[in-house]
Amino acid sequence: MPSLYERIGGEKAINVAVDLFYKKVLTDNRINHFFKDINLAKQSQRLKAFLAYAFGVPNKYTGRPLREAHARLVKKGLNDSHFDAVLENLGNSLKELGVSEDLIEEAAKIAESVRNDILNRQLHLVPL
Ligand code: HEM
Repeated sequence: MPSLYERIGGEKAINVAVDLFYKKVLTDNRINHFFKDINLAKQSQRLKAFLAYAFGVPNKYTGRPLREAHARLVKKGLNDSHFDAVLENLGNSLKELGVSEDLIEEAAKIAESVRNDILNRQLHLVPL
């Protein structure tokens, strides 16, 4: 099966989604403070990488590991509620662009799979 990235519409569709997602995140008072000191030119690049990641093409990604990239934010209080807010903005952007519910759900599942990395959580193995 082609990646979700391709099924959503490839690079063109992703670029439109980035613009919308970007606007939503930067006007969302629950989370925009995390982006305050961030170089804006780099940011759109990052959001594209973010979306490529969420749509299942991590091989396109050349940035820092997600755990490392968000460590500074966790020190500033990044938690589940912020993660949920980002997912909500992503879902709403895709919905506005006419992406179907099942593809949006697929993207959300992929994003969920990196929640513990983003929030710098340790996974504890239960000793036998
Ligand atoms: C599915 C969840 C997420 C994914 C896939 C993701 C992905 C990424 C990627 C690919 C980068 C670029 C890393 C680099 O170039 O080195 C990044 C950086 C960043 N992310 Fe996320 N992210 C997620 C969640 C969040 C959340 C919840 C927030 C805050 C509300 C956030 C805020 C940021 C900020 C501010 C940066 C720039 C950090 C810096 O330059 O120091 N991200 N993210």
